[in-house]
Amino acid sequence: MIHAKITGTGSYLPGAPVTNNDLIRRGINTSDEWIITRTGIRSRHFAAPDETTSALALVAARRAIESAGCSADDIDLIIVATSTPDFIFPSTATLVQAGLGIHNGGAAFDVQAVCCGFVYGLTVAEKFIRSGSHKRALVIGAEVFSRILDWDDRSTCVLFGDGAGAIILEAANQPGIRATALHADGHQHKLLWVPGNVSGGKVTGDPFLRMDGQAVFKFAVKVLGDVAQEVTDSAGVPHDSIDWLIPHQANIRIIQSTAKRLKLPSEKIVLTVDSHGNTSAASVPLALDCAVRDGRVRPGQRIVVEGVGGGFTWGAALFDF
Ligand code: ACO
Repeated sequence: MIHAKITGTGSYLPGAPVTNNDLIRRGINTSDEWIITRTGIRSRHFAAPDETTSALALVAARRAIESAGCSADDIDLIIVATSTPDFIFPSTATLVQAGLGIHNGGAAFDVQAVCCGFVYGLTVAEKFIRSGSHKRALVIGAEVFSRILDWDDRSTCVLFGDGAGAIILEAANQPGIRATALHADGHQHKLLWVPGNVSGGKVTGDPFLRMDGQAVFKFAVKVLGDVAQEVTDSAGVPHDSIDWLIPHQANIRIIQSTAKRLKLPSEKIVLTVDSHGNTSAASVPLALDCAVRDGRVRPGQRIVVEGVGGGFTWGAALFDF
């Protein structure tokens, strides 16, 4: 039986941290105290104007490849999760393939599941590898959400940041990924969306992120609790065998409420929202890589990653690292 195992991680945050007080200095009518109390966010990073999603993704990818000890040409599948691609087409994944100098004709495509994109990408890659069709996948979450923020809307612009995280997932004799679950409810798409598009050479509609914050909050707490339970049940493992929960880093209050529902102590939760903000599809692989590099996440440990995002989409994966 073929299993799929994570063998390398990498990430990248552009530029210097931008604190809440830096946002105030840039003219946002807010306060450090309001942002910290409601969200837990103290700082975030923003890409430079000429820095693209594929550029962030490439740095994270190179770091993941180095940590896996493989070469770029060993990768036969690239999946980039993003809602802020460089272009309408081609996919950001094909740009990453070219940037890595890969000429092996492997598959490359993007997935669009907003803040749950990395969990979707990981799950798709796992199916490819377990089927035997592909041997080594590079799965990336990368975003420049700063480009779709309305800086006159203080209820959303203080929440997000830019960044990228990546993993290498490869065929193995032992698990690996033990359970995954993906869900969507398209009826709720207007609670969190960017309702514009490009047509006839113009942007039509509203090109900025819009959100009903309180509705998103309630929905996120419910589904993040449910889907973590779903993957532990499906893997047949008890809650207390989980070493780390790595949830989507949207808001510390959502994360704390989820942990409470799951009866998981706060010492088992990886938190990066304080210094990254919400980096959408990048948030989970960024948090995973930070926890690997600072020694919290170690080989052999059992991890649950989970996400929720616009659509709505939500999902989780349980794996032995
Ligand atoms: N600074 C200061 N005051 C603000 C700010 C700000 N940045 N933003 C809003 N306010 C004010 C409002 O104007 C309002 O003032 P009023 O009472 O005088 O009218 C007051 O704060 C309360 O506004 P609410 O929108 O009711 O604030 P709420 O308590 O709901 O907190 C928040 C807003 C933080 C967005 C919350 O709803 C939340 O955490 N939602 C979750 C959404 C989320 O995390 N989304 C991330 C993307 S989704 C995802 O990743 C799954």
